[in-house]
Amino acid sequence: MDTREVWRIPHAGSLRRLVRVAESLPDPGPGEARVRVRAIGLNFADLFACLGLYSATPRGAFVPGLEFAGVVEALGSATEPGAPRPGARVLGLTRFGAYATALNIDLRYLHPSPTDWDFAEAAAFPVQGLTAWYALLELGGLKRGAAVLLHSAAGGVGLNALRILAAQEARVVATVGRPAKRDFLMQRLGLSTDQIIVRDRRVFGRQLDGALAALGLDGLDLVLDAVAGPYFRPAYDRLRPGGRIVVYGAADLMPKGARPDYLRLALRYRRRPRLDPLRMIAENKSVMAFNLIWLWEQADRLPRAYDQLARFADRPPLIGRRFRFAEAPAALRHLQSGESVGKVVLEV
Ligand SMILES: NC(=O)c1ccc[n+]([C@@H]2O[C@H](COP(=O)([O-])OP(=O)(O)OC[C@H]3O[C@@H](n4cnc5c(N)ncnc54)[C@H](OP(=O)(O)O)[C@@H]3O)[C@@H](O)[C@H]2O)c1
Repeated sequence: MDTREVWRIPHAGSLRRLVRVAESLPDPGPGEARVRVRAIGLNFADLFACLGLYSATPRGAFVPGLEFAGVVEALGSATEPGAPRPGARVLGLTRFGAYATALNIDLRYLHPSPTDWDFAEAAAFPVQGLTAWYALLELGGLKRGAAVLLHSAAGGVGLNALRILAAQEARVVATVGRPAKRDFLMQRLGLSTDQIIVRDRRVFGRQLDGALAALGLDGLDLVLDAVAGPYFRPAYDRLRPGGRIVVYGAADLMPKGARPDYLRLALRYRRRPRLDPLRMIAENKSVMAFNLIWLWEQADRLPRAYDQLARFADRPPLIGRRFRFAEAPAALRHLQSGESVGKVVLEV
């Protein structure tokens, strides 16, 4: 038996309900390790979960958080050769429960942390790295030189996706929500002003046409869309035959306050994009969608996924802002504001 602190929400619906509590942690069970958590990666999904807008959210009380990095402290049973030992630095995925100073976790969800990354960098890696990899390569079928539209390019998933796209020599149109992020992408990543759109929901189609013309492109092969709302349709309309949109989120539905404004949400939800599958046949266009939780349920696929992702992980993820564990609510508000660049991390 050990003790730990967690951020727990008694039931989803408001960010104000998150409370920090001390509690006991049982010894790890067979096939589990106890990890002393040193950093936690925040994800946009954490916000949707706390707000009660994420279908995978547990009923009743839960501890948010999908990824962490730390040190293995104890094992629940003798392990297979190659499994992490006490003292090993690891990163890991968890289906909720990461906002904690220690946790017990099935060994299959742990992965060795790269030795030259700090804990925050390691905690920043699993969800957003795997999301970008899965969206672009597994579902998106990204081909060398493809014309790709990437929304929220300065965010956690976005920066991971840009690495993969660069390695595949893709022609990228990147969108961001505010000019400061355009400047960041130009200064830190060398993107050109022509290829970056600061999204305007009223004229996004025209913005896209301008960027495509500037890059000498007549359409898109692949779109990564986790914003949805009014940006989906113009992108779909500009897909070349054979093109795909991979949908994996709906940031446009993110409420501004601590609680959802259900009226505004309902209006936006009613206006969500709709497509006719029969027309899609004639147009030779596809829409694909996924939730990474599905991959979490297939733990045995994770080693291969990490191996493939390692090709694009020659340097650590970019941390936009580090918060202390005690500052989790402020860290979430920062992520919710839409201002964050790169990864937002809690350090224990
Ligand atoms: N399906 C899955 O399994 C899966 C897994 C991981 C992530 N995701 C999704 O991928 C997206 C990126 O995730 P992330 O964790 O890397 O987050 P992130 O991109 O670092 O941050 C979210 C970004 O969403 C954009 N955004 C658009 N409309 C917004 C609004 N109304 N309010 C606030 N932000 C808004 C903002 O960037 P810009 O304004 O610059 O675009 C914001 O910075 C999220 O939508 C997330 O839900 C899905």
